[in-house]
Amino acid sequence: MDKAKLIIDDQTHELDIVVGTEGERAIDISNLRTETGLITSDSGFKSTGSTRSAITFLDGENGVLRYRGYPIEQLAEKSSFLEVAYLLIYGDLPNATELENFTYGVTRHTLIHEDMKKFYEGYPAKAHPMGILASMISALSTFYPEAQKSDLSPKEVDITVKRLIAKIATISAWSYKKSMGLPIMYPQNRLSYCGNFLHMMFALPTEDYEVNPVIEKALNTLLILHADHEQNCSTSTVRMAGSSHASLYAAISSGVCALWGPLHGGANQEVIEMLEKIQAEGGDVKKMVEKAKDKESSFRLMGFGHRVYKNFDPRAKIIKEVCDEVLDDLGIDDPLLDIAKSLEEVALSDSYFVDRKLYPNVDFYSGILYRAMGIPTEMFTVMFSMGRLPGWIAQWKEMRDNNEPISRPRQVYVGANERPYVDLKNRK
Ligand code: SDX
Repeated sequence: MDKAKLIIDDQTHELDIVVGTEGERAIDISNLRTETGLITSDSGFKSTGSTRSAITFLDGENGVLRYRGYPIEQLAEKSSFLEVAYLLIYGDLPNATELENFTYGVTRHTLIHEDMKKFYEGYPAKAHPMGILASMISALSTFYPEAQKSDLSPKEVDITVKRLIAKIATISAWSYKKSMGLPIMYPQNRLSYCGNFLHMMFALPTEDYEVNPVIEKALNTLLILHADHEQNCSTSTVRMAGSSHASLYAAISSGVCALWGPLHGGANQEVIEMLEKIQAEGGDVKKMVEKAKDKESSFRLMGFGHRVYKNFDPRAKIIKEVCDEVLDDLGIDDPLLDIAKSLEEVALSDSYFVDRKLYPNVDFYSGILYRAMGIPTEMFTVMFSMGRLPGWIAQWKEMRDNNEPISRPRQVYVGANERPYVDLKNRK
């Protein structure tokens, strides 16, 4: 095994260099503190690997994304969301029987306990659906207390997997209906996963509803593209929470909360609000680009930049193509798509973005598609959560199957040195 040499106070320490299956190299510092008394410091973990994972491979320099070795472009074109969920969670593409059983299992767990309907009555009318989703997923754990166990059997993990994937669609669609003051629609087992979600979102008891195959296919593609992305902020949160042996429900609920942030999954909502603002102010994309470059302003070009991709986000490329196809099929002329394209063009010809390798990420065009489907802006990050759920589950399962220790990072203390207590009467 290759070694790295670290010289501290004239003493040389040798550290193993780990090599991944795609040739990535890492210095194994797991024994650094015991050997040298020192730790590393890396705010935001920009140069720190938290685990060794066999689930997703990203090559940020070349814009490569693969789930269990399969290129995202092929999965987006040929696979289904439930097939990709199975691939991520269980490690390989299912055969026909495995896929049929998995699909059957998910389809028959779409109902949530009738008592959970009452929770919706307590939320304020304009409750953000991500707040509902995070709490409802955590609440699911109270209906399945057996899932709290530390030593779940594979069978108990499997049923929890199916319950989560099935019920997130119902919970999400019902939060939309709640926000609209419309009656909820129960799941329909005869429909596909995506078709069932669209039915629960948009069908009404007063009229027939037919799932539009163009929208159903586009949703399937979007969910596949969001399904996993190695150790991003929310996935690392799921792994961190799960490492204490909190239940999978609790770990997923923590992932939903982390994804909500505007720098992460919340960016898809921010992108549309940014495009709407540009439109409202006359469509001057150059002004928005200049504002994003201004260090005096905290504004960032939402949907641009990525911690790993220093080239095009392959997902953004696919979504941009699907946008053109779907809007054309649906006969929709969305001015925000034209604004997004000209914003991309202006930014990518500006040295500020080129020098910093800031390209459109997965969130830049996804909102245009969700809008074309009739999904409201506040639901965009919920859609991201639905897509990312199998990835979160797969990463949690890998962490537990590998018996990884509880995550507990160290720190460098920079606070006050020891000082005596001061009585209140003596304080200034
Ligand atoms: C997702 O990690 C994942 O895999 C996430 C994700 C997934 O699938 O899970 O891909 C999903 O979260 C996509 C990212 C969505 N977020 C946004 O679109 C928000 C806007 N983007 C940024 O805030 C930013 O690019 C991040 C958060 C995505 C990445 O931030 P980094 O890696 O910490 O980079 P940085 O903040 O250190 O930026 C480097 C430089 C800085 O300028 P300088 O200090 O060098 O002068 O680039 C600038 C930043 O100011 N910069 C931007 C910018 N993004 C970075 N400037 C303007 N607009 C931007 N969008």
